[in-house]
Amino acid sequence: MNLLVVGGGGREHAIIKKLKENPTVQTIYALPGNGGIAQDAVCVPEIGAKDIPAIVAFAKSHDIDFAVVAPDDPLALGCVDRLHEAGIACFGPDARAARIESSKVFSKNLMKKYGIPTARYEVFSDADAALAYLQTVGFPIVLKADGLALGKGVLIAQNLHEAQDAVKTIMQDKAFGDAGSEIVIEEFLTGPEVSVLAFTDGSAIRPMISSMDHKRAGDSDTGLNTGGMGTVAPNPYYTAEIAQVCMDTIFLPTLAAMRKEGCRFKGCLYFGLMLTPDGPKVIEYNCRFGDPETQVVLPLLKTDLLTVMQAVENETLAELQVEWSDGAAACVILASGGYPSHYEKGKPITFPASTPENVTVYHAGDKLQGGKLVTSGGRVLGISATAPTLQTALADAYEAAETITFDGKFMRRDIGRRALAAMEER
Ligand code: AMP
Ligand code: GLY
Repeated sequence: MNLLVVGGGGREHAIIKKLKENPTVQTIYALPGNGGIAQDAVCVPEIGAKDIPAIVAFAKSHDIDFAVVAPDDPLALGCVDRLHEAGIACFGPDARAARIESSKVFSKNLMKKYGIPTARYEVFSDADAALAYLQTVGFPIVLKADGLALGKGVLIAQNLHEAQDAVKTIMQDKAFGDAGSEIVIEEFLTGPEVSVLAFTDGSAIRPMISSMDHKRAGDSDTGLNTGGMGTVAPNPYYTAEIAQVCMDTIFLPTLAAMRKEGCRFKGCLYFGLMLTPDGPKVIEYNCRFGDPETQVVLPLLKTDLLTVMQAVENETLAELQVEWSDGAAACVILASGGYPSHYEKGKPITFPASTPENVTVYHAGDKLQGGKLVTSGGRVLGISATAPTLQTALADAYEAAETITFDGKFMRRDIGRRALAAMEER
């Protein structure tokens, strides 16, 4: 089998490494891939993840048997629709189903219509109406740009003044471009956050092991929001009892709602949940694998990934058991100094001669320059470790993270601290 993976970050590297475990896989192409992914796949740096015509042409001319579209942008742009039209089997939702992430207005209205628990909200397409509404609410309050904004389109306002600024930033200054033509203003919820990624063919669902992201750049959740600075799995707050509540009140109702709306969701559906005092509620849906959640979840997958993805595409997931390893995983992101604001690129990276067997280095933002790897992005590497306990996984990931160097390297020092504390409280 020849496979194609669209994307070029740590998440795609984790998907590729897992797909490679299948003995029928011959060649994996990564479009565009990155410097480190080139160790595991044939990278095509000239074809960006949003260049849908070039992706489809490449798939047709390279005898591709199965394609995986990982990032949100190509999914929202209809990459899967176009590949299907070309007769290529794929993993990932079509553009209509991808709206569950690409439009907050779509997803909030879906949840309201079908009674899926989420924060109460109002939608505005007019800045003056949004500003008038703010006079009637309590604080803090959450303001979200409707469209894709690289995870940055969410602003939490502590008071009226901040909320007014947020409306101006999103709707009048268009800080997130057209993503800000409409705005969702919603109730501020509290409680631990849990990420649950799930394989689904639209009716059957196989939730993956739960995980916890660390979104802020600084220790103790300070600093700016990032794409994610580290993850642990499983998430200790997500008990078997809560998992059952989520299955009954959120996961299955979401799939049924999408079928009723005529946009069956096939692929990886990511539930961003908050465990509030009133029960689990949806903070957001993503139409794809999370990054860096994938880097802790897939290492614990025991069932062959390609088999699961094919069952999703063929709508036969109900017949497949998906198994997970016991134990835990942790991922620590090594970032470029200054990320998520301005940072420098092109710093040479040095690696130790070898890494322990339970540690994997996922490449997120690097490229080959004169045969050597140099930094090329904000999040450069994800160091993941699996172990029987979270404590050991974290210790091993941090130990390996110390052995890799580049100018300006920084990482959070407290990945997993909250999870460990939650486990001790039990
Ligand atoms: P999102 O991009 O929708 O996941 O939002 C980014 C982050 O903002 C989430 O991970 C939460 O920490 C926070 N957030 C989003 N919506 C809410 C809400 N309604 N209440 C409290 N925090 C929120
Ligand atoms: N780590 C959060 C996301 O992938 O959206």
